[in-house]
Parts: sequence; structure tokens; C-alpha cells
Amino acid sequence: SNQGQAATMVSRFNNRTLVLFPLPFQGHINPMLQLANILYTKGFKIIIIHTDFNSPNQSNYPQFTFRSISDGLSKSKDESLNLETVNNVINFMNKSCIEPFTIFLAKLLEVEHAACLITDSLWPFTQSVADSLKLKRIVLRTSSMACVPVYATFALGEKSYFKTAIKEELALMTENDIEKVYKGGSEKGNKELIYNMIKETKASSGIIFNTFKELEEPALLAISQDFKIPSFPIGPFHKYFPASSSSLLEQDRSSISWLDHQPVSSVVYVSFGSIAQMGEAEFTKMAWGLAYSKQCFLWVVRPGSVSGCEWLESLPKGFMEEVGERGCIVKWAPQQEVLAHKAIGSFWTHNGWNSTLESICEGVPMICSPCSYDQPINARYVTDVWKIGVKVDNKMSREEIGIAIKRAITEKEGEKIRQRSKSLQEKVNQSMQKGGSAYQSLESLVEYILSF
Ligand code: UDX
Repeated sequence: SNQGQAATMVSRFNNRTLVLFPLPFQGHINPMLQLANILYTKGFKIIIIHTDFNSPNQSNYPQFTFRSISDGLSKSKDESLNLETVNNVINFMNKSCIEPFTIFLAKLLEVEHAACLITDSLWPFTQSVADSLKLKRIVLRTSSMACVPVYATFALGEKSYFKTAIKEELALMTENDIEKVYKGGSEKGNKELIYNMIKETKASSGIIFNTFKELEEPALLAISQDFKIPSFPIGPFHKYFPASSSSLLEQDRSSISWLDHQPVSSVVYVSFGSIAQMGEAEFTKMAWGLAYSKQCFLWVVRPGSVSGCEWLESLPKGFMEEVGERGCIVKWAPQQEVLAHKAIGSFWTHNGWNSTLESICEGVPMICSPCSYDQPINARYVTDVWKIGVKVDNKMSREEIGIAIKRAITEKEGEKIRQRSKSLQEKVNQSMQKGGSAYQSLESLVEYILSF
């Protein structure tokens, strides 16, 4: 009927406001702000709620409305609380933000109709807030899809996942991998967070993933069977919008001019993301591995990432003289631009999901040294499932590391790896084109939100 149609149109018009709540860490801020941009171009009005801690650079986003809430971090008097680890900080904020977030959202909804709330999966507290305000919540999961069933299995002891299509790939995980998944914080803190994340994701209205179907079809199947809510793998977000504008640190552009002077596919790009930490011994071994490889390298050493050092103090004596012009070290780089540069031959990475995906999109083979969280899972997929990288761990000698680096970039054996990287890159491009899986998934997400 005409009346019915008119009512639908009114409701679609009213459903144009979205409230987004990113988790305040680089690897989570980037995908959430990219998603905000994607939905903005689809005609939505974007309101971003953020914490005082790591608040995003608003001047790069005049098109969004930003509102901050107090996270209580600076006011915390609890001395026994160890806020050194990321997971403890996240667990803390999941309690300290309840009140300010609820008050803010309730007030907002008095004056503005919102279609839904979109929050990071690591904000599990927001589900009951949304329920109490009768607002739908969609979850943004910033990791790979594959790591969701793995987390659920390990955290909840749910054996049922082993019966699903992902069984064989899960079996690839070694004891060492599993240990690393938990390494990122206290084990208790980790279990609590993962348990709540899975539980409240299941209670939500849908999950958006920063990935594409063809890459992780068995995981998508496993999730659809178990979570009973729609999943939207809308493609690598940075293919729609780059992440550079949400960088919390200043990106050193001299790395690009240095790359301009290097031969095609000759450089190893080395970066371990925004939170990984390493000991001095590991750092020194990395340096010698790079020297032994005889390859050119662009190395991001984030200040504070080597325990007990401000920046490069523990670089071995004579290292810079040994490598000479073959090496360039910076504090933070424009990573996506670096990976897209023709001089790049491989990426030595900790396999954070953003880095892994950015590498896949540029067809760059990886040298994998995962540290913790989802990284060991991502690294398994890179080396053993997609076969687009090699593994390097700190049990290897500097000579072995040097050989592995060289292999990924020049040797004959590395050729298959490089071919597979290129063909995966083509698959991403296809999935983003009109009619491709990521393209369609984004269309369905928009329709889904408008139907609320
Ligand atoms: C964290 C977790 O460690 C990761 O496992 C999880 O999947 C997401 O959250 P992080 O460790 O920072 O993230 O790694 P990653 O996911 O790779 O994100 C790093 C981001 O910083 C990327 O978007 C990358 O492009 C950017 N970056 C990195 C820079 O812009 N410059 C740099 O020099 C290094």
C-alpha cells in the first residue's frame, strides 16, 4: 500500500544516523574510522564517541561529529591495577566507561534518532547499554574472521568448533602459537575479555569484518553457523579509504624518498605495529638477521618498543657502518604507501591483522614473527593456508634469519610465494568490484541498517 511505502520511506530517512565507538588503540582506531568514512559515503551521518585516552585526530574528519567521554584512566587510584598491559586497560575501561557512556547515549537519543550503535568487539559492555536503550548494536571485529572461532574454542572450551570446516586449519596451531595468543596480558584478564567479547558479540545484531569472503570462507561458514547473526565481510577497509589520517604518531615521509632511490622489489620493510614490545636480545638478533640477509631494508623502530630503551640505544655497535646505505631506520612510517611502493620486496611483520591485510592487498610476501593476541593465528594462515610467507622465530640463529629473509625476496624457492601473493591480490580486487563479494556485502550491510 501507499501508506506502507510512505512509512518505510520515513523510517529509512530516520535511520541515517549512526553512533560509532572505536577502541582507543591504533590497530582498532584505523579500521573504525575507515568504516565511518565508508558509511558516510553511503549517506549516513556519523557521530563518534571516543575516550580521552588516545583520542583520534578530529581535524582530519570535519565530516563527523566527535564527542568524548571520560574513561577514568588518569583518575584511577587503584594501585594494584596493572595498566601496563593492553588487556588490563581494556578490561578497566569496560567498567569505567559504563556510566559516562550510558548517560551520553541516553541524552543523545532524546534529541536524535539513531539507526544503531556500532562498537568495537572489545567493548562488550556496550551490548547491555544498547539493550537498555532499545538500540540495536552492530559489532566491528577488527581481526581476521579465522581468529573468532579459534578464540571461542580456546576461551570457552567449546569443542563444537572442531567439528566445523575449520577443523584442519585449527590443527595447524602449535602449543607455542596457543601460548602466544594468551601472552598479551595476564591470562585471567585475557580470558575475561575474550569470554565477554564472544558472549556479547553473539547477543548483537550483526558483525562487520575487515576482510573478504574468498580469503576466509571456512571461518565465515563456522561463524554463520554458530553466531546466528549476519556477518558482513565488506572487504579490506583501507581499499576504500587509507588509514594515514587516523595515525596517532607522525609518519616519517623521508622513508618514501629513501625508497624512491632503491631498485624494484629489493627492499624488506620491517614493522611490528603499534603495541608490540621486544627485549634487547631479540632486537639485536633482528638487526644481525637483516645485516646477514644482505638485503636493503626500511625498518620502523617505534620509540619505546625495545624494553628499557628510548629508541636505538641497543643497536649493536658497528651495525650502521656494516649495513651502510642498505638500511634506513625510522620511528613511524606511512605504512600503506610504503607497502604499495615498487621498491618493496617483502614485509617482515608481527602479523597484526591490519598489517597482514595491507600486505595482502599490495601482493607483498610476508616474513612472519607474531608476538601475541591474534597474530600467531594470522601468521599460521599466511604461512600454512594461503602460503604467502615464511616464518621466522627467535629460536633461529641470525644466519638462519638472514637466509629466510633473503628467500622471501630473491631466491627461486620464494618464487611460488610471490606468485601466490600476486594472485591473492587479484582476488581482493575482484571482490571489491561491482558484483564482487565484498561489494555485495557492503550493499547488504547498508540495506540491513536501513531496515532497522
Ligand atoms: C593491534 C594488534 O596487535 C593486532 O594483532 C590486532 O589485529 C589489531 O590491533 P597493531 O599491533 O598495532 O594492532 O598492528 P596492526 O593491526 O598491524 O595495525 C597497525 C596499523 O598501524 C596499520 O594500519 C599500519 O598501517 C599502521 N602503521 C604501522 C603505520 O601507519 N606506520 C607504521 O610505521 C607502522
